[in-house]
Amino acid sequence: MRAKIAGAMSTQVSTSIHAAQRVSRFTYAIRQVVAEAKKVEATGRTVRYLNIGDPNAFGFLTPPHLVEAVAKAMRDGHNGYTASVGIAPAREAAAADFTARGVPVSADRVLITSGTSEGIELALTAIVDEGEDVLVPSPTYPLYTAVLAKIGANPVYYRTDPGHGWLPDLEHMKAALTAKTRALVLIDPNNPTGAIYPEAVRKQLIAFALEHNLVVLADEVYGDLGFTGAVPALAALAPDAPIISYSSLSKAYLAPGWRAGWMAVGATPRLDQALAAIKKLADGRLCSPGPMQYAVTAALTGDRSHQVTFRRELNLRSDLTAARFNAMPGMNVVAPQAAFYAMPQVTLPPGKTDEDFVRGLLHAKGVLVVHGSGFGLPPEGGYFRVVFLASPAELEAIYDDVADFARDFAGA
Ligand SMILES: Cc1ncc(COP(=O)(O)O)c(C=O)c1O
Repeated sequence: MRAKIAGAMSTQVSTSIHAAQRVSRFTYAIRQVVAEAKKVEATGRTVRYLNIGDPNAFGFLTPPHLVEAVAKAMRDGHNGYTASVGIAPAREAAAADFTARGVPVSADRVLITSGTSEGIELALTAIVDEGEDVLVPSPTYPLYTAVLAKIGANPVYYRTDPGHGWLPDLEHMKAALTAKTRALVLIDPNNPTGAIYPEAVRKQLIAFALEHNLVVLADEVYGDLGFTGAVPALAALAPDAPIISYSSLSKAYLAPGWRAGWMAVGATPRLDQALAAIKKLADGRLCSPGPMQYAVTAALTGDRSHQVTFRRELNLRSDLTAARFNAMPGMNVVAPQAAFYAMPQVTLPPGKTDEDFVRGLLHAKGVLVVHGSGFGLPPEGGYFRVVFLASPAELEAIYDDVADFARDFAGA
């Protein structure tokens, strides 16, 4: 029995605190599938996690000069708040990096953020009102739909076409446009499909955005991870267009847990109000982690040779992944061109969904992947996303298990 504390208030109230409505619209499948995996682990089975794109978890380690930059910043006493837009050297380094990629932008239009994620949330919150629409790819990286759920705006999916290398279907995009559409999200190179959009397609997308007065959110977090080299920045094709470009230390610099990213608000007066609104919101969250901002400077001004090795390793795993899935009966995959994801499709038995396949694979073989409907695809499409960062030998063993399970599932 609890002792009664003199003067303490009674807290015996029967009604529970309810969760806000907006949470019911919020989903983030990549992490939500983990709960089921933990249950499977609790039965004593080993689970191989191919759900999260974290290179560190698979032995791709942060370059030592970045670790040293953070450690030095801490030792030097840079442990206080920074300016909400970020420290000047990091902003200057990011501006110089964009400029070198053909996107001339001044440091004044750059913000250092807690990963690309925060930059995306800042921009969408600053630009899109409740009830307005944002064009989001299908399949999409789910952060976009999650943020839109929080701010009460609507994701409107445009199709990307597996029959054409997962490129955006411009006709579908046109049809999806409404009078309330404010922004167009382009993820290029793409998660979850691994697609890179050719220059001609990019030009059409920019022309479409210009014609309809849309802000483009250019998510280039995988920009340095094209298998044949860095992919050009979208805004290089139209530096005056209203494009907000994003990148971070998470993927190409192998430090996702540091939550360090940067964004550049394109050098056009059309984005000045948006930039001011983004900075105003950034003030409200104080700053991104200070010591990690020193690593942004180090990353963008220092040695990037780790990327050469990383790209080669990714290319190897991508080839292996595409070959193995395309050789499985009832399965096919579009070969990725960048990053570390593939989106295979399995022929589903009648009445089954992508989640049935994913859950079945987890329980039967201890392999965790994410269902395509978690990225906005129809559940009956049979798509699922695989993260192929494990070693080639591990991937071979995992794909043997997937093939085994797919055979049983098809006959079920
Ligand atoms: C397309 C895309 N954008 C943004 C992010 C989030 O990146 P960050 O760690 O920089 O917030 C991810 C992470 O997986 C991603 O795949």
